[in-house]
Amino acid sequence: MATERLLSPQPGTPDEDEANYALRPGRMEEYIGQRDLVERVSIAVAAARSRSDPMEHVLLHGPPGLGKTTLAHVIAREMNSRITVTSGPALARGTDLVSALQRLGHGDVLFIDEIHRLPVAVEEFVYPAMEDFRIDVTVDSGLNARTIQLRCKPFTLIGATTRAGLLSSPLRSRFGQTFHLQYYTVAELATILRRSCSLLNVRDADEPALLRIAERSRGTPRIANRLLRRVRDFSHVRAGNTFTPAVVDDALALEGVDPLGLDELDRSYLRTIGNVYACGPVGLETVAATMNEDAGTLEDVVEPYLLQIGFLARTRRGRALTRAACEHLGIPFKTSDSDESSLF
Ligand code: ADE
Repeated sequence: MATERLLSPQPGTPDEDEANYALRPGRMEEYIGQRDLVERVSIAVAAARSRSDPMEHVLLHGPPGLGKTTLAHVIAREMNSRITVTSGPALARGTDLVSALQRLGHGDVLFIDEIHRLPVAVEEFVYPAMEDFRIDVTVDSGLNARTIQLRCKPFTLIGATTRAGLLSSPLRSRFGQTFHLQYYTVAELATILRRSCSLLNVRDADEPALLRIAERSRGTPRIANRLLRRVRDFSHVRAGNTFTPAVVDDALALEGVDPLGLDELDRSYLRTIGNVYACGPVGLETVAATMNEDAGTLEDVVEPYLLQIGFLARTRRGRALTRAACEHLGIPFKTSDSDESSLF
């Protein structure tokens, strides 16, 4: 299924989480890429430290797999703080948040992943905590209802989201700074891979081989490190520990990953629009029904990368392939009208 794809930017199994943990940069100076963001975060950290204050609350947004959680850990470490990690869906009731807040020490970081999925009732507790480090708890009900004010220690909330647009504006406005994570360049991914090789004791990978992996990683370190582990295993079992571009090509071809980092699901989606619907435009639901796939899955896990590399256009009348997509697939490009340029 789509959620288990080798090229998914979502975290994989718990084993994979653990493997990724070992590859994370611990300090800001080890963090590769996101130069502007790293500089702005470093300034905020240094300023807060010089005042002995907690850092302002921070909102991190950007596509999955680009290192929002990693960055939160790095910030906490640079602030010499402890970090508590939770997520919007895990904070189902107000009391879950209250107990997390009360356990925080002065200057600690509370990291809430997928903060756009925080239930509305829990969000109400977040506002006074963010503004005044105060928790308003209602006890009893009906006529006897009273609000008790509890205090928590000054802390930094780091919220992470892939969908900043879904955040309520009162919540968004309470963050002192917002940082957007960008996709990584091929050169940055190759540098990340070189670092991972030394951590994983992979000694024979040459530079062109790492660039080949980087090119197929969809701008995402999590995917790059996952592909690296697959190629390492292949190299070990099938290629006598050699790690050349040809070995990368063979290992990833076996996994169905093509030179642009597209897999069978991507190609099947593109071929459906190209061959069945004459390159579009065609509605997403129609494509999903033809492929016997879920429209939401296609929208969340297939389309973002195809849009990013300019293979797909979202027009007023539906999805359409671009000339570049048709050239990649080796099918004739057809356009019915000027829809291709009228993007939403
Ligand atoms: N591993 C994953 N993401 C990284 C990054 N941005 N810098 C260094 N190593 C990483």
